[in-house]
Amino acid sequence: MSDSASLKIGDKESGYPIRSGSIGPDVIDIRKLYAETGCFTYDPGFTSTASCDSALTYIDGDEGVLLHRGYPIGELAEDSSFMEVSYLLLNGELPSKDELDSFTYTISRHTMLHEQLMQFYRGFRRDAHPMAIMCGVVGALSAFYHDSTDIADPDHRRISSHRLIAKMPTIAAAAYKYSVGQPFVYPDNSLSYTGNFLKMTFGVPAEPYEVNPVVERALDRIFILHADHEQNASTSTVRLAGSSGANPFACIAAGIACLWGPAHGGANEAALNMLREIGTPDKIPHYIERAKDKNDPFRLMGFGHRVYKNYDPRATVMQKTVREVFDALKVSDPVFEVALQLEEMALNDPYFIEKKLFPNVDFYSGVILSAIGFPTTMFTALFALARTVGWVAQWNEMISDPGQKIGRPRQLYTGPTQRPYVKIGDR
Ligand code: CMC
Repeated sequence: MSDSASLKIGDKESGYPIRSGSIGPDVIDIRKLYAETGCFTYDPGFTSTASCDSALTYIDGDEGVLLHRGYPIGELAEDSSFMEVSYLLLNGELPSKDELDSFTYTISRHTMLHEQLMQFYRGFRRDAHPMAIMCGVVGALSAFYHDSTDIADPDHRRISSHRLIAKMPTIAAAAYKYSVGQPFVYPDNSLSYTGNFLKMTFGVPAEPYEVNPVVERALDRIFILHADHEQNASTSTVRLAGSSGANPFACIAAGIACLWGPAHGGANEAALNMLREIGTPDKIPHYIERAKDKNDPFRLMGFGHRVYKNYDPRATVMQKTVREVFDALKVSDPVFEVALQLEEMALNDPYFIEKKLFPNVDFYSGVILSAIGFPTTMFTALFALARTVGWVAQWNEMISDPGQKIGRPRQLYTGPTQRPYVKIGDR
Protein backbone atom coordinates (compact mmCIF):
# COMPACT_ATOMS: atom_id res chain seq x y z
CA MET A 1 0.00 0.00 0.00
CA SER A 2 1.07 3.59 -0.62
CA ASP A 3 2.55 5.46 2.34
CA SER A 4 0.34 8.51 1.89
CA ALA A 5 -3.26 9.37 1.03
CA SER A 6 -4.48 12.47 -0.73
CA LEU A 7 -7.73 14.31 -0.28
CA LYS A 8 -9.09 16.74 -2.85
CA ILE A 9 -11.61 19.36 -1.79
CA GLY A 10 -12.44 21.63 -4.73
CA ASP A 11 -9.09 22.46 -6.37
CA LYS A 12 -7.05 22.03 -3.21
CA GLU A 13 -5.33 18.71 -2.63
CA SER A 14 -3.70 17.77 0.66
CA GLY A 15 -1.63 14.71 1.55
CA TYR A 16 -1.76 12.62 4.72
CA PRO A 17 0.73 9.97 5.86
CA ILE A 18 -0.41 6.36 6.15
CA ARG A 19 0.88 4.51 9.20
CA SER A 20 1.09 0.72 9.58
CA GLY A 21 0.79 -1.28 12.78
CA SER A 22 2.27 -4.76 13.30
CA ILE A 23 -0.96 -6.31 11.93
CA GLY A 24 -4.38 -4.97 11.07
CA PRO A 25 -5.62 -2.14 8.91
CA ASP A 26 -3.34 0.82 8.21
CA VAL A 27 -4.43 4.24 9.43
CA ILE A 28 -4.52 7.55 7.59
CA ASP A 29 -3.01 10.10 9.94
CA ILE A 30 -5.39 13.05 9.61
CA ARG A 31 -4.19 15.05 12.59
CA LYS A 32 -3.45 18.05 10.32
CA LEU A 33 -6.74 17.78 8.40
CA TYR A 34 -8.53 20.63 10.15
CA ALA A 35 -5.54 22.98 10.01
CA GLU A 36 -5.08 22.30 6.30
CA THR A 37 -8.69 22.10 5.07
CA GLY A 38 -10.92 23.62 7.78
CA CYS A 39 -12.95 20.35 7.73
CA PHE A 40 -13.52 17.72 10.40
CA THR A 41 -14.10 14.04 9.70
CA TYR A 42 -17.57 12.71 10.53
CA ASP A 43 -17.69 9.25 12.12
CA PRO A 44 -20.46 8.72 14.69
CA GLY A 45 -19.74 5.64 16.79
CA PHE A 46 -16.10 5.81 15.62
CA THR A 47 -16.62 2.95 13.17
CA SER A 48 -13.63 4.05 11.05
CA THR A 49 -11.54 5.91 13.59
CA ALA A 50 -8.42 4.72 15.42
CA SER A 51 -8.07 6.88 18.52
CA CYS A 52 -4.67 5.69 19.80
CA ASP A 53 -1.64 3.44 19.35
CA SER A 54 -2.00 0.27 21.41
CA ALA A 55 0.13 -2.86 21.85
CA LEU A 56 -2.29 -4.70 24.13
CA THR A 57 -5.05 -6.44 22.24
CA TYR A 58 -5.66 -7.22 18.58
CA ILE A 59 -8.99 -8.23 17.06
CA ASP A 60 -9.65 -9.36 13.52
CA GLY A 61 -13.43 -9.33 13.43
CA ASP A 62 -13.72 -10.99 10.00
CA GLU A 63 -11.52 -13.91 10.99
CA GLY A 64 -12.76 -14.21 14.59
CA VAL A 65 -9.28 -13.57 16.02
CA LEU A 66 -8.59 -12.10 19.47
CA LEU A 67 -4.98 -11.81 20.68
CA HIS A 68 -3.66 -10.42 23.96
CA ARG A 69 -0.04 -9.28 23.49
CA GLY A 70 0.00 -11.69 20.53
CA TYR A 71 -1.39 -14.76 22.35
CA PRO A 72 -4.70 -16.24 21.05
CA ILE A 73 -7.59 -16.01 23.51
CA GLY A 74 -8.46 -19.71 23.04
CA GLU A 75 -4.98 -20.78 24.19
CA LEU A 76 -5.00 -18.39 27.13
CA ALA A 77 -8.48 -19.53 28.21
CA GLU A 78 -7.44 -23.18 27.94
CA ASP A 79 -4.02 -23.16 29.62
CA SER A 80 -3.52 -19.91 31.48
CA SER A 81 -5.04 -18.28 34.56
CA PHE A 82 -6.64 -14.89 35.12
CA MET A 83 -3.66 -13.77 37.22
CA GLU A 84 -1.26 -14.78 34.44
CA VAL A 85 -3.32 -12.96 31.79
CA SER A 86 -3.47 -9.91 34.08
CA TYR A 87 0.33 -9.92 34.36
CA LEU A 88 0.61 -10.32 30.59
CA LEU A 89 -1.72 -7.41 29.86
CA LEU A 90 0.00 -5.13 32.37
CA ASN A 91 3.60 -6.05 31.57
CA GLY A 92 3.62 -7.16 27.93
CA GLU A 93 5.18 -10.62 28.43
CA LEU A 94 4.15 -13.89 30.04
CA PRO A 95 5.61 -14.16 33.57
CA SER A 96 8.13 -16.73 34.75
CA LYS A 97 6.92 -18.90 37.63
CA ASP A 98 8.63 -16.59 40.18
CA GLU A 99 7.22 -13.47 38.53
CA LEU A 100 3.70 -14.94 38.58
CA ASP A 101 4.02 -15.98 42.24
CA SER A 102 5.26 -12.55 43.19
CA PHE A 103 2.50 -10.78 41.21
CA THR A 104 -0.20 -13.03 42.71
CA TYR A 105 1.19 -12.40 46.19
CA THR A 106 1.21 -8.61 45.60
CA ILE A 107 -2.41 -8.64 44.41
CA SER A 108 -3.41 -10.74 47.43
CA ARG A 109 -1.90 -8.09 49.75
CA HIS A 110 -4.40 -5.50 48.49
CA THR A 111 -7.65 -7.49 48.65
CA MET A 112 -9.02 -5.84 51.80
CA LEU A 113 -11.13 -2.70 51.67
CA HIS A 114 -10.66 0.20 54.06
CA GLU A 115 -13.11 -0.57 56.89
CA GLN A 116 -14.72 2.85 56.55
CA LEU A 117 -15.40 2.12 52.91
CA MET A 118 -17.32 -0.98 53.99
CA GLN A 119 -19.67 1.38 55.88
CA PHE A 120 -20.57 3.03 52.55
CA TYR A 121 -22.63 0.03 51.57
CA ARG A 122 -25.17 0.72 54.27
CA GLY A 123 -26.05 3.99 52.56
CA PHE A 124 -27.45 2.12 49.54
CA ARG A 125 -30.98 0.74 49.37
CA ARG A 126 -31.07 -3.04 49.83
CA ASP A 127 -32.44 -3.45 46.32
CA ALA A 128 -29.73 -1.32 44.67
CA HIS A 129 -28.32 -2.81 41.46
CA PRO A 130 -24.74 -4.05 42.14
CA MET A 131 -23.50 -1.91 39.26
CA ALA A 132 -24.91 1.20 40.97
CA ILE A 133 -22.94 0.22 44.08
CA MET A 134 -19.81 -0.56 42.03
CA CYS A 135 -19.89 2.86 40.34
CA GLY A 136 -20.17 4.57 43.71
CA VAL A 137 -17.70 2.48 45.71
CA VAL A 138 -14.99 2.33 43.03
CA GLY A 139 -15.24 6.10 42.50
CA ALA A 140 -14.96 6.53 46.28
CA LEU A 141 -11.64 4.63 46.38
CA SER A 142 -9.93 7.89 45.38
CA ALA A 143 -11.09 9.36 48.70
CA PHE A 144 -9.23 6.62 50.59
CA TYR A 145 -6.00 5.97 48.70
CA HIS A 146 -4.40 9.40 48.30
CA ASP A 147 -0.98 7.77 48.17
CA SER A 148 -1.64 6.36 44.69
CA THR A 149 -3.44 9.08 42.74
CA ASP A 150 -0.46 10.98 41.30
CA ILE A 151 -0.76 9.81 37.71
CA ALA A 152 2.64 11.25 36.76
CA ASP A 153 4.37 8.90 39.21
CA PRO A 154 4.87 5.34 37.81
CA ASP A 155 4.90 3.90 41.36
CA HIS A 156 1.53 5.47 42.12
CA ARG A 157 0.16 4.12 38.84
CA ARG A 158 1.44 0.63 39.62
CA ILE A 159 0.02 0.59 43.14
CA SER A 160 -3.37 1.99 42.08
CA SER A 161 -3.53 -0.62 39.30
CA HIS A 162 -2.80 -3.42 41.77
CA ARG A 163 -5.34 -2.03 44.23
CA LEU A 164 -8.08 -1.86 41.61
CA ILE A 165 -7.49 -5.43 40.40
CA ALA A 166 -7.24 -6.75 43.96
CA LYS A 167 -10.22 -4.91 45.44
CA MET A 168 -12.76 -5.46 42.67
CA PRO A 169 -13.70 -9.00 43.86
CA THR A 170 -14.14 -7.70 47.42
CA ILE A 171 -16.27 -4.77 46.21
CA ALA A 172 -18.43 -6.93 43.92
CA ALA A 173 -18.90 -9.69 46.52
CA ALA A 174 -19.86 -7.12 49.18
CA ALA A 175 -22.44 -5.61 46.79
CA TYR A 176 -23.99 -9.08 46.50
CA LYS A 177 -23.86 -9.80 50.23
CA TYR A 178 -25.52 -6.48 50.98
CA SER A 179 -28.36 -7.21 48.55
CA VAL A 180 -29.14 -10.56 50.19
CA GLY A 181 -28.77 -9.28 53.75
CA GLN A 182 -25.83 -11.54 54.66
CA PRO A 183 -22.70 -10.38 56.51
CA PHE A 184 -19.72 -9.36 54.42
CA VAL A 185 -17.13 -12.11 54.11
CA TYR A 186 -13.55 -10.86 54.37
CA PRO A 187 -10.91 -11.93 51.84
CA ASP A 188 -9.04 -15.20 52.37
CA ASN A 189 -5.61 -14.85 50.81
CA SER A 190 -4.89 -18.56 51.09
CA LEU A 191 -7.24 -19.00 48.12
CA SER A 192 -6.73 -18.14 44.46
CA TYR A 193 -7.99 -14.81 43.13
CA THR A 194 -11.14 -16.50 41.80
CA GLY A 195 -11.55 -18.95 44.70
CA ASN A 196 -11.38 -16.03 47.11
CA PHE A 197 -14.11 -14.22 45.15
CA LEU A 198 -16.34 -17.32 45.26
CA LYS A 199 -15.86 -17.59 49.01
CA MET A 200 -16.58 -13.89 49.60
CA THR A 201 -19.74 -14.23 47.49
CA PHE A 202 -21.18 -17.57 48.56
CA GLY A 203 -19.50 -18.27 51.89
CA VAL A 204 -21.15 -17.48 55.24
CA PRO A 205 -19.33 -17.08 58.57
CA ALA A 206 -21.38 -19.87 60.14
CA GLU A 207 -20.02 -22.61 57.88
CA PRO A 208 -16.72 -23.55 56.24
CA TYR A 209 -16.72 -22.84 52.50
CA GLU A 210 -15.13 -25.25 50.08
CA VAL A 211 -14.27 -23.97 46.63
CA ASN A 212 -15.47 -26.28 43.84
CA PRO A 213 -12.43 -26.57 41.50
CA VAL A 214 -14.57 -26.92 38.33
CA VAL A 215 -16.56 -23.80 39.20
CA GLU A 216 -13.35 -21.97 40.15
CA ARG A 217 -11.76 -22.89 36.82
CA ALA A 218 -14.90 -21.96 34.83
CA LEU A 219 -15.18 -18.57 36.52
CA ASP A 220 -11.46 -17.92 36.10
CA ARG A 221 -11.92 -18.68 32.40
CA ILE A 222 -14.85 -16.25 32.21
CA PHE A 223 -12.59 -13.63 33.78
CA ILE A 224 -9.90 -14.36 31.16
CA LEU A 225 -12.44 -14.05 28.34
CA HIS A 226 -13.55 -10.64 29.61
CA ALA A 227 -10.13 -9.27 30.58
CA ASP A 228 -9.65 -6.88 27.67
CA HIS A 229 -11.21 -6.15 24.32
CA GLU A 230 -9.36 -3.38 22.56
CA GLN A 231 -10.97 0.08 22.24
CA ASN A 232 -14.57 -0.88 23.13
CA ALA A 233 -17.01 1.65 24.60
CA SER A 234 -16.04 1.31 28.27
CA THR A 235 -12.30 1.18 27.56
CA SER A 236 -12.60 4.28 25.39
CA THR A 237 -14.53 5.88 28.25
CA VAL A 238 -11.69 5.06 30.67
CA ARG A 239 -9.15 6.49 28.24
CA LEU A 240 -11.24 9.61 27.63
CA ALA A 241 -11.73 10.21 31.35
CA GLY A 242 -8.02 9.55 31.94
CA SER A 243 -6.96 11.89 29.14
CA SER A 244 -7.96 14.86 31.30
CA GLY A 245 -5.62 13.69 34.06
CA ALA A 246 -8.39 12.28 36.27
CA ASN A 247 -7.22 9.78 38.91
CA PRO A 248 -7.42 6.05 38.04
CA PHE A 249 -10.21 5.23 40.50
CA ALA A 250 -12.43 7.90 38.95
CA CYS A 251 -11.56 6.65 35.44
CA ILE A 252 -12.46 3.05 36.25
CA ALA A 253 -15.74 4.21 37.84
CA ALA A 254 -16.50 5.94 34.51
CA GLY A 255 -15.72 2.68 32.68
CA ILE A 256 -18.10 0.77 34.98
CA ALA A 257 -20.87 3.27 34.22
CA CYS A 258 -20.41 2.78 30.48
CA LEU A 259 -20.17 -1.01 30.76
CA TRP A 260 -23.56 -1.13 32.48
CA GLY A 261 -25.50 -0.46 29.26
CA PRO A 262 -27.41 -3.37 27.65
CA ALA A 263 -25.57 -2.94 24.34
CA HIS A 264 -22.25 -3.56 26.16
CA GLY A 265 -21.68 -5.33 29.49
CA GLY A 266 -25.36 -5.48 30.35
CA ALA A 267 -25.93 -7.87 27.45
CA ASN A 268 -25.32 -11.11 29.40
CA GLU A 269 -28.01 -10.14 31.91
CA ALA A 270 -30.30 -9.19 29.02
CA ALA A 271 -29.46 -12.44 27.18
CA LEU A 272 -30.36 -14.68 30.11
CA ASN A 273 -33.55 -12.71 30.79
CA MET A 274 -34.44 -13.18 27.13
CA LEU A 275 -33.76 -16.94 27.23
CA ARG A 276 -35.93 -17.28 30.35
CA GLU A 277 -38.68 -15.25 28.71
CA ILE A 278 -38.56 -17.53 25.65
CA GLY A 279 -38.81 -20.41 28.12
CA THR A 280 -39.35 -23.36 25.78
CA PRO A 281 -37.92 -24.23 22.34
CA ASP A 282 -41.35 -24.04 20.62
CA LYS A 283 -41.45 -20.25 21.27
CA ILE A 284 -38.11 -19.62 19.55
CA PRO A 285 -39.51 -18.98 16.02
CA HIS A 286 -41.78 -16.24 17.41
CA TYR A 287 -38.79 -14.43 18.97
CA ILE A 288 -36.68 -14.84 15.83
CA GLU A 289 -39.48 -13.21 13.81
CA ARG A 290 -39.65 -10.36 16.32
CA ALA A 291 -35.86 -9.82 16.05
CA LYS A 292 -36.21 -9.57 12.26
CA ASP A 293 -39.17 -7.19 12.36
CA LYS A 294 -38.01 -3.64 11.63
CA ASN A 295 -41.00 -2.22 13.51
CA ASP A 296 -40.22 -4.18 16.68
CA PRO A 297 -37.32 -2.85 18.83
CA PHE A 298 -36.62 -6.40 20.10
CA ARG A 299 -33.14 -7.75 19.31
CA LEU A 300 -31.70 -11.17 20.05
CA MET A 301 -29.53 -10.32 23.04
CA GLY A 302 -26.12 -11.99 22.96
CA PHE A 303 -26.15 -11.86 19.17
CA GLY A 304 -24.13 -9.56 16.93
CA HIS A 305 -21.00 -7.56 17.55
CA ARG A 306 -19.59 -4.29 16.32
CA VAL A 307 -16.28 -5.91 15.40
CA TYR A 308 -16.80 -9.69 15.05
CA LYS A 309 -18.54 -10.39 11.77
CA ASN A 310 -17.65 -14.08 11.50
CA TYR A 311 -17.74 -15.54 15.01
CA ASP A 312 -16.76 -14.40 18.48
CA PRO A 313 -13.86 -16.66 19.57
CA ARG A 314 -14.86 -16.09 23.20
CA ALA A 315 -18.31 -17.58 22.55
CA THR A 316 -16.75 -20.87 21.40
CA VAL A 317 -14.84 -21.29 24.69
CA MET A 318 -17.94 -20.24 26.61
CA GLN A 319 -20.17 -22.86 25.02
CA LYS A 320 -17.71 -25.60 26.01
CA THR A 321 -17.51 -24.26 29.56
CA VAL A 322 -21.31 -24.43 30.01
CA ARG A 323 -21.22 -28.19 29.61
CA GLU A 324 -18.34 -28.60 32.08
CA VAL A 325 -20.15 -26.56 34.74
CA PHE A 326 -23.50 -28.25 34.17
CA ASP A 327 -21.86 -31.69 34.47
CA ALA A 328 -19.88 -30.74 37.60
CA LEU A 329 -22.86 -29.18 39.36
CA LYS A 330 -25.33 -31.75 37.98
CA VAL A 331 -27.51 -28.89 36.81
CA SER A 332 -30.13 -29.30 34.15
CA ASP A 333 -31.59 -25.95 33.20
CA PRO A 334 -34.04 -25.77 30.27
CA VAL A 335 -32.51 -22.41 29.43
CA PHE A 336 -29.42 -24.18 28.05
CA GLU A 337 -31.54 -26.19 25.63
CA VAL A 338 -33.32 -22.99 24.54
CA ALA A 339 -29.91 -21.32 24.01
CA LEU A 340 -28.57 -24.21 21.90
CA GLN A 341 -31.68 -24.38 19.71
CA LEU A 342 -31.94 -20.61 19.35
CA GLU A 343 -28.31 -20.47 18.23
CA GLU A 344 -28.88 -23.20 15.66
CA MET A 345 -32.07 -21.67 14.27
CA ALA A 346 -30.63 -18.16 14.05
CA LEU A 347 -27.42 -19.36 12.40
CA ASN A 348 -29.51 -21.01 9.67
CA ASP A 349 -31.76 -18.00 9.12
CA PRO A 350 -30.97 -15.80 6.06
CA TYR A 351 -31.51 -12.56 8.07
CA PHE A 352 -28.75 -13.45 10.56
CA ILE A 353 -26.50 -14.93 7.87
CA GLU A 354 -26.72 -11.82 5.66
CA LYS A 355 -26.14 -9.42 8.55
CA LYS A 356 -23.31 -11.60 9.90
CA LEU A 357 -24.92 -11.91 13.33
CA PHE A 358 -23.39 -14.63 15.52
CA PRO A 359 -23.59 -15.43 19.24
CA ASN A 360 -21.20 -13.24 21.19
CA VAL A 361 -19.46 -13.95 24.50
CA ASP A 362 -22.55 -12.92 26.44
CA PHE A 363 -24.87 -15.45 24.89
CA TYR A 364 -23.60 -18.31 27.06
CA SER A 365 -21.88 -16.52 29.94
CA GLY A 366 -25.20 -15.74 31.65
CA VAL A 367 -26.21 -19.40 31.49
CA ILE A 368 -22.98 -20.44 33.27
CA LEU A 369 -23.12 -17.68 35.86
CA SER A 370 -26.70 -18.56 36.65
CA ALA A 371 -25.78 -22.24 37.09
CA ILE A 372 -23.00 -21.22 39.50
CA GLY A 373 -25.59 -19.33 41.55
CA PHE A 374 -25.11 -15.69 40.62
CA PRO A 375 -28.31 -13.63 40.26
CA THR A 376 -28.62 -11.87 36.89
CA THR A 377 -27.98 -8.47 38.48
CA MET A 378 -24.44 -9.64 39.35
CA PHE A 379 -23.50 -10.56 35.77
CA THR A 380 -22.36 -7.13 34.67
CA ALA A 381 -20.57 -6.65 37.99
CA LEU A 382 -18.52 -9.78 37.19
CA PHE A 383 -17.74 -8.40 33.74
CA ALA A 384 -16.56 -5.16 35.39
CA LEU A 385 -14.40 -7.13 37.83
CA ALA A 386 -12.64 -8.94 34.98
CA ARG A 387 -12.41 -5.96 32.63
CA THR A 388 -10.72 -3.86 35.32
CA VAL A 389 -7.35 -5.33 34.37
CA GLY A 390 -7.89 -4.33 30.71
CA TRP A 391 -9.01 -0.86 31.74
CA VAL A 392 -5.99 -0.26 33.97
CA ALA A 393 -3.58 -1.68 31.37
CA GLN A 394 -5.08 0.57 28.68
CA TRP A 395 -5.06 3.54 31.06
CA ASN A 396 -1.37 2.94 31.91
CA GLU A 397 -0.53 2.63 28.23
CA MET A 398 -2.24 5.93 27.51
CA ILE A 399 -0.54 7.82 30.34
CA SER A 400 2.88 6.48 29.25
CA ASP A 401 2.30 7.56 25.63
CA PRO A 402 4.17 10.82 24.96
CA GLY A 403 1.72 11.60 22.12
CA GLN A 404 -1.29 11.42 24.45
CA LYS A 405 -3.69 14.39 24.27
CA ILE A 406 -6.92 15.21 26.02
CA GLY A 407 -9.76 13.51 24.10
CA ARG A 408 -11.93 16.14 22.45
CA PRO A 409 -14.10 15.05 19.50
CA ARG A 410 -15.61 17.70 17.25
CA GLN A 411 -19.13 17.87 15.81
CA LEU A 412 -21.31 18.77 12.87
CA TYR A 413 -23.38 21.58 14.34
CA THR A 414 -27.05 21.48 13.24
CA GLY A 415 -28.60 23.91 15.75
CA PRO A 416 -29.79 27.47 15.15
CA THR A 417 -27.28 30.02 13.88
CA GLN A 418 -26.61 33.11 16.00
CA ARG A 419 -29.75 35.07 16.94
CA PRO A 420 -30.41 37.86 19.45
CA TYR A 421 -31.75 37.03 22.92
CA VAL A 422 -35.39 38.09 23.39
CA LYS A 423 -36.32 39.19 26.92
CA ILE A 424 -39.00 36.99 28.55
CA GLY A 425 -41.64 39.77 28.56
CA ASP A 426 -41.18 40.31 24.80
CA ARG A 427 -41.63 36.64 23.78
N1 CMC B 1 -30.80 -9.00 16.74
C1 CMC B 1 -31.43 -8.64 15.61
N2 CMC B 1 -30.90 -7.79 14.70
C2 CMC B 1 -29.68 -7.29 14.95
C3 CMC B 1 -28.97 -7.63 16.12
C4 CMC B 1 -29.56 -8.51 17.03
N3 CMC B 1 -28.94 -8.87 18.15
N4 CMC B 1 -27.77 -6.98 16.13
C5 CMC B 1 -27.74 -6.26 15.01
N5 CMC B 1 -28.90 -6.45 14.29
C6 CMC B 1 -29.23 -5.86 12.97
C7 CMC B 1 -29.62 -4.39 13.13
O1 CMC B 1 -31.03 -4.26 13.26
C8 CMC B 1 -29.12 -3.80 11.84
O2 CMC B 1 -30.05 -4.09 10.81
P1 CMC B 1 -30.25 -3.05 9.59
O3 CMC B 1 -28.94 -2.99 8.89
O4 CMC B 1 -31.32 -3.69 8.80
O5 CMC B 1 -30.65 -1.75 10.21
C9 CMC B 1 -27.85 -4.59 11.55
O6 CMC B 1 -28.02 -5.86 12.20
C10 CMC B 1 -26.60 -3.92 12.07
O7 CMC B 1 -26.80 -3.58 13.42
P2 CMC B 1 -26.07 -2.37 14.14
O8 CMC B 1 -26.78 -2.07 15.42
O9 CMC B 1 -25.89 -1.24 13.17
O10 CMC B 1 -24.66 -3.01 14.42
P3 CMC B 1 -23.59 -2.50 15.43
O11 CMC B 1 -22.29 -3.05 14.99
O12 CMC B 1 -23.68 -1.03 15.64
O13 CMC B 1 -24.09 -3.16 16.82
C11 CMC B 1 -24.34 -4.53 18.71
C12 CMC B 1 -23.47 -4.17 17.50
C13 CMC B 1 -23.57 -5.49 19.62
C14 CMC B 1 -24.65 -3.27 19.54
C15 CMC B 1 -25.65 -5.18 18.21
O14 CMC B 1 -25.38 -6.33 17.43
C16 CMC B 1 -26.62 -5.53 19.36
O15 CMC B 1 -27.38 -4.66 19.81
N6 CMC B 1 -26.58 -6.82 19.86
C17 CMC B 1 -27.38 -7.20 21.00
C18 CMC B 1 -26.70 -6.74 22.28
C19 CMC B 1 -25.47 -7.57 22.61
O16 CMC B 1 -25.50 -8.79 22.59
N7 CMC B 1 -24.38 -6.85 23.00
C20 CMC B 1 -23.15 -7.51 23.46
C21 CMC B 1 -21.97 -7.24 22.60
S1 CMC B 1 -20.63 -8.33 23.02
C22 CMC B 1 -20.12 -7.80 24.56
C23 CMC B 1 -19.14 -6.70 24.48
O17 CMC B 1 -18.06 -6.87 23.85
O18 CMC B 1 -19.43 -5.64 25.10
